Amino acid sequence: MSPKTSAHFATIHFTAWCFMLQLSRGPVQTQPGTTPNIRHIVVGRCFTYTTLINSSLSHDCEEIWRHFEEAVLHQPTCSVKVQHYDKMFDTMQEFWPCDRFLFWSKTRTLMHSYAAVFRHFWTLENTLVGFMFNELVWCGQEEESGFNFNSCPEWSACGDHPVFSLWRHASQKFAEMACGNITVLLNGSIADAFNRKSMFGSVELDSLNPQRVDHVNIKVVTNLEGPYIESCSRGSITDLIQILQSRGFRWTCTDSDQTLMALLCLQNQQFSYQACTNPLQPTTSLQTPDMGQCGFNGR
Ligand SMILES: *[C@@H]1O[C@H](CO)[C@@H](O)[C@H](O)[C@H]1NC(C)=O
Ligand SMILES: *[C@@H]1O[C@H](CO)[C@@H](O)[C@H](O)[C@H]1NC(C)=O
Ligand SMILES: *[C@@H]1O[C@H](CO)[C@@H](O)[C@H](O)[C@H]1NC(C)=O
Repeated sequence: MSPKTSAHFATIHFTAWCFMLQLSRGPVQTQPGTTPNIRHIVVGRCFTYTTLINSSLSHDCEEIWRHFEEAVLHQPTCSVKVQHYDKMFDTMQEFWPCDRFLFWSKTRTLMHSYAAVFRHFWTLENTLVGFMFNELVWCGQEEESGFNFNSCPEWSACGDHPVFSLWRHASQKFAEMACGNITVLLNGSIADAFNRKSMFGSVELDSLNPQRVDHVNIKVVTNLEGPYIESCSRGSITDLIQILQSRGFRWTCTDSDQTLMALLCLQNQQFSYQACTNPLQPTTSLQTPDMGQCGFNGR
């Protein structure tokens, strides 16, 4: 993958992670180094997860850490590939019930409220690996052993960035596991709501298995104040539908889903918008065409 592409990934999917930190610190160019106390945080989160969140899991947190360290520290800083994390992922297998998988792109805040209200939804952040590594930064050092706590390379300066490769691996696994009905939250207030360079568009979509997934339920949400750029029938989302269709997925697509709009109204505490004062307005929906009725099969 070219450095440019990986830089793009980073800004699309992980904005709230190291990048936000960077922005809020002003014009300093160097990236922050490995998160201090990373070992304690990672192992501690692992125990939190396996003790308090799902006590039926019996993962060995110290072993996971050892595999993590091996993956990151046994290769040059910018050559930590997806497969270097294979051993670590092998020790942290999880199985999730179907119909709960939630994917998203550029809708992070809304996704968090949605997943908080509808507790049955699972995002990558609810998985053990997502929980353990969320918002952390890490990298090795070129000449010495151990993590570099002073600075880590930018994503764009790295062929295979250790943080990026872990998330790519995690996203791929998450999508491969997805089954039943899955939900995809997309942002209709930006161009390229479905972006082939986003983690969803480049990794997750290709890893979804039409044999395991029943319906892909797409929900397109715009900001209350607009702009209204894309929808189920306009822009890049039609490309997504095309891809789903060609791979044999059944799908639905809903614009301005009522529940999501209500959440946006609550989040913004802005009840002056029409969508907030008039919550019963109908939403538009599309779905997989019925082949018989539409005559696609030539009958
Ligand atoms: C706990 O993990 C097991 C195995 O992965 C899974 O089947 C179960 O649904 C999980 N329970 C909760 C409450 O997440
Ligand atoms: C859509 O994306 C914009 C720009 O990233 C963001 O400010 C906005 O909150 C997003 N809207 C929703 C509904 O997630
Ligand atoms: C799956 O999605 C389809 C289409 O939205 C819906 O008709 C069906 O009831 C859903 N099934 C489950 C188990 O949620």
